[in-house]
Amino acid sequence: MPIRTQIGIVGAGPAGLLLSHLLARAGIDCVIIESRTRDEIEGTIRAGVLEQWTVDLMNRMGLGERMMREGHFHRGITLQFDRQRHHLDFEDLTDGKKVTVYAQHEVIKDLVAARLAGGGQIIFGVSDVKLEAIETDSPRIKFRRGADGAQEEIACDFIAACDGFHGPGRQAIPAQVRNEFQKIYPFGWLGILTEAPPSWHELIYSNQDEGFALLSTRSDTVQRMYIQCDPADKIENWSDDRIWGQLHKRLEIADGWKLTEGKIFQKGIIGMRSFVCEPMRHGNLFIAGDAGHIVPPTGAKGLNLAAADVLVLSRALRSWYRYRNAELFDSYSATCLDRIWKGERFSWYMTTMLHKNPQETSFEQKIHLADMKYVVSSRAASQALAENYVGLPIDIDDV
Ligand code: FAD
Ligand code: DHB
Repeated sequence: MPIRTQIGIVGAGPAGLLLSHLLARAGIDCVIIESRTRDEIEGTIRAGVLEQWTVDLMNRMGLGERMMREGHFHRGITLQFDRQRHHLDFEDLTDGKKVTVYAQHEVIKDLVAARLAGGGQIIFGVSDVKLEAIETDSPRIKFRRGADGAQEEIACDFIAACDGFHGPGRQAIPAQVRNEFQKIYPFGWLGILTEAPPSWHELIYSNQDEGFALLSTRSDTVQRMYIQCDPADKIENWSDDRIWGQLHKRLEIADGWKLTEGKIFQKGIIGMRSFVCEPMRHGNLFIAGDAGHIVPPTGAKGLNLAAADVLVLSRALRSWYRYRNAELFDSYSATCLDRIWKGERFSWYMTTMLHKNPQETSFEQKIHLADMKYVVSSRAASQALAENYVGLPIDIDDV
């Protein structure tokens, strides 16, 4: 007997989990399948920064209690170049919006716990996932529990593929109707978690001779830091001493400020790409989040764009089940892509401005320096950066 539900969701990342909560609030039934275990998804270190509306949405849905208690709320960010720091005060530059630092895996823990407590179904550790009959009114998801369980089936009205960049969701859209836009950057990020107190009161995005560095935080005792590196490099080539050496150089300033070191207990290298798939719907399949688009992490946009997609999708599904109105299905892709391309632009802009690109000319490097100087000296320019960083306007009043 197949599992029968209204919406079959593939992937329990931020997109899939948030969608399940939005649907539950609208009285729509769903089942999530996830290829990894609960421990794995709750332990994967990724994003850190939430846009203001994402925070507001979590609170509105009663999911923000721990975030408000344990998250870090900053007035803005610091931009660093020429060994000098410049505070951009987002609260002042926007209408009071803040930067919230609350790790993605903490968001995941909160969303999973609340969904299970609310009677939601999440099937962890599935394999061999296939999306079938997506062009019909009865799409199906086939899967196995664990690596070699018997094949099972979810029979649903719609499939939401929230299965990240490498999942099968996007590939289920026929190649002839899929348009993909991509840019691969010739640098990556080496990220660490370290047991140390905060060294600065807000995030520092620094572009110095040796390359980019980002100082972020997780708690009063754990800090998150990144340095630009060769994306093909092996983490084994980076001893703790070498990492600290580079962090010191890239965050150094003229006034003698010192970065506080600690024990490094997690480190890894990620590549960087910009990617968009158009359209994000085919028949009764909808793709959302990293399944449809990737941004380089410099603008802290990925999770937030994923959240915006599923907000749009939940509205379309609600409109269908309440009024049998399919209009929002037809506009789903275009509505999401409008915000996505603005997020792509901002992430590309921040990435290009703040990194040392070995393939660029000295002319382009000078342009980036001029850009940073412009941002910190012009209220209009810093306001444009602030508006994008805290999140472009989005309406959540109907949730
Ligand atoms: P994912 O989080 O990738 O979730 C997809 C889920 O689907 C996964 O759990 C996966 O296991 C599952 N899955 C895959 N295939 C299958 C299958 N066949 N069957 C079932 N399940 C499947 N974003 C921000 O907004 N702010 C930041 O500060 C930020 N910083 C970042 C820093 C780093 C170092 C990195 C790597 C990313 C950062 N991001 C940031 C981006 C953010 O992490 C992603 O955009 C976000 O995870 C996207 O959520 P998602 O739910 O779409 O996809
Ligand atoms: C973090 C990640 C980002 O990509 C970013 O722009 C800011 C902070 C973080 O992991 O803390």
